[in-house]
Amino acid sequence: MAPIVRKAVFPAAGLGTRFLPATKAQPKEMLPLVDKPIIQYGIEEAVSSGVDNIILVTGRGKNAIEDHFDVSMELETFLEARGKRDQLDEVRKISNLINFAYVRQGEPLGLGHAVLVTRVLVGEEPFAVILGDDVIDANPPAIKQLVDVFERYGGPVLAVERVPRDQISNYGVIAIEPTAHIGDGIYQVRDLVEKPAREDAPSDLAIIGRYVLTPDIFPALAATKSDGTGEIQLTNGLRELLRSRPIYACEVKGVRHDTGNKLGYLKAVVYFALRRPDLADQFATYLASLDLHAPAGKR
Ligand code: G1P
Repeated sequence: MAPIVRKAVFPAAGLGTRFLPATKAQPKEMLPLVDKPIIQYGIEEAVSSGVDNIILVTGRGKNAIEDHFDVSMELETFLEARGKRDQLDEVRKISNLINFAYVRQGEPLGLGHAVLVTRVLVGEEPFAVILGDDVIDANPPAIKQLVDVFERYGGPVLAVERVPRDQISNYGVIAIEPTAHIGDGIYQVRDLVEKPAREDAPSDLAIIGRYVLTPDIFPALAATKSDGTGEIQLTNGLRELLRSRPIYACEVKGVRHDTGNKLGYLKAVVYFALRRPDLADQFATYLASLDLHAPAGKR
């Protein structure tokens, strides 16, 4: 039987330059989707998948993330005194959720490097990696879908999604073994390439931000050279690992939002607002009232 996945790594050291000036003094992971920070969606996904030891890879200027998941006595006392029970429960739920450990990346040397700095904290057991930018609404939760595949096949599992060709070069892309289509959206990986040019992409199966990895990824990453941009890519570490063991990919069933770019972020805000019973009706009425054919700036 495959060992249990208990730990999830959240790389969160990026500078968030796409959202400047909002992210000048605030981590991009703390931007809200309605009223919950982006990163909390990923953390709740991990917890509801049974993975409740969280390792956050942070950097300078990320203290707000640590504070968010810590107890806030001041705030709790205030809400208690005002009799704001619901909000108090909400706030306590956050800090009671799980065990947190933090490690600093130091230098921004890429996703592979961010995973490598968790080596001591992860130790010799399988673990999940969750890229918080990719917010996935799914039932069962996305990382649980991967854990299930891991438990069946015992090897590393990557989440993939078919993406249109004109977007493929934003992603790591896999080639699959033609004879190894294992079943319902599960594949054996033949090769992986990080952000290929459109014409070089080996398929339309893009890696999205969920992985279940085994501890032998660490020596593989340590042996992986940085690429042309000076970063160590997780995709290249996995390519190294593929020389010594099978790797699997799983098409996740759910709705993914890439909140790492402005349009994806806006779509996610609308999507989650329309799923909130306290907002949905009024917000839908507002959206329907917009004259979407008017020129930009005059709506
Ligand atoms: C990273 C990975 C890439 C993956 C993507 C998913 O890229 O390097 O392989 O497809 O996440 O979101 P990034 O989006 O950090 O540039």
